[in-house]
Amino acid sequence: MSLKAPRGTQDLLPGVSEKWQYIENALTELCTNYHYKEIRTPIFEHTELFQRGVGDTTDIVQREMYTFTDRGDRSITLRPEGTASVVRAFVENKLFGSPNQPTKLFYVGPMFRYERPQQGRMRQFVQFGVEALGSADPAIDAEVLALAMNCYQSFGLKSLKLVVNSLGDKESRENHRDALIGHFTPHKDELCDDCKVRLEKNPLRVLDCKKDRNHPAMETAPSILDFLNEESKNYFESVQQHLTNMGIPFVVDPNLVRGLDYYNHTAFEIMSNADGFGAITTLSGGGRYNGLVEELGGPETPGIGFALSVERLLMAIDAEGIELPVDESLDCYIITMGEKANQKAVSLQYKLRQAGIQVDKDYLNKKPKGQWKAADRLQAKFAIVLGDDELQRSIASVKNLSTGEQEEVDFADLEIYLKSALQGGK
Ligand code: HAM
Repeated sequence: MSLKAPRGTQDLLPGVSEKWQYIENALTELCTNYHYKEIRTPIFEHTELFQRGVGDTTDIVQREMYTFTDRGDRSITLRPEGTASVVRAFVENKLFGSPNQPTKLFYVGPMFRYERPQQGRMRQFVQFGVEALGSADPAIDAEVLALAMNCYQSFGLKSLKLVVNSLGDKESRENHRDALIGHFTPHKDELCDDCKVRLEKNPLRVLDCKKDRNHPAMETAPSILDFLNEESKNYFESVQQHLTNMGIPFVVDPNLVRGLDYYNHTAFEIMSNADGFGAITTLSGGGRYNGLVEELGGPETPGIGFALSVERLLMAIDAEGIELPVDESLDCYIITMGEKANQKAVSLQYKLRQAGIQVDKDYLNKKPKGQWKAADRLQAKFAIVLGDDELQRSIASVKNLSTGEQEEVDFADLEIYLKSALQGGK
């Protein structure tokens, strides 16, 4: 039997992993500009965290979690998303006690959902997300939406659509909930078994059902926007005003529901409009989740955030034909002739590497011709040539592989010479 990676997972090999590093570094830098700090939480948590946090009636909790019993008889789940974990860590570590509020955090790491894999939908995928806890100012909603858009714009993406909605506060949601129950109850028998339960437990979820999505009652379902009370309406208008002031285009879609239960007020998704982007066009999503911190045992604290998957970001980058400026070159490759030179190369490259210069050499006993070919293949900028003659004179011949120029450099000066040459001085 040949062993393969499990369905819905992938290996990121050299050549591709550099793109991931580039993206993760760029997103980290962007978050630093917005003054968000990194948080790293465990990859597995107690199952109850997601049941309570994400919501019992969601697809994620009902059928997509990787849950197992550990040897201590605890129910453990590989995290399907990051928000519940971040909120748990916020409460457990009493981050609400810090004088610096709101607490602005970002994270990047693998998430796990047992979904039917297709392009852009994996069972293990990497989410990059942010959470801002402790402020109920519409300006922070606008900041999170702006940051989410910036994540794509910073790579040069243009075919983007920001879709926003408001799910309102508790009162608005309760009124909307009653209207949804009134609307769907006459059709209850025509809905799927899950929706029959959802209708009682959480009718908003019916709007997000993949099976019943084409039922005629979906189109005529009452819109949340008609049920927003004064406060929720003002809040939503204020978020939109901030977006307009920042010059960020958006559309309002009252049918945007989101697949997790913790949302209220602002909800949003970013889609790709690019030709050739796969069937799944949602790049990222998020929203406000006032109430989640209390639900997970903390003090009353509002929160908002979003998450994107790096897989879908890369799909959008490919669909728009953008080449990431990933540098796969190597600073220097040492070419040796003879055993003594080979020995010298080992200590020389150790010294140069310690000085922060990228260096590699042959380990397959190749003849000089093969070593030159390797230098070329590895896109080395400089070749450092060592032979008996060079060793005797304590020098190396350094060849600039793009100009073909060659110079003799004393061993003692090699580090300074290469550093200056690599900065474009030579
Ligand atoms: P979500 O909409 O479930 O929200 O996921 C956010 C993003 O993760 C999606 O838009 C998509 O890019 C990506 N994603 C989800 N599932 C998969 C998958 N199977 N394969 C590849 N990518 C996927 C959340 O997870 C919330 N925690 C977001 C949030 C943060 N809300 C507030 N704060």
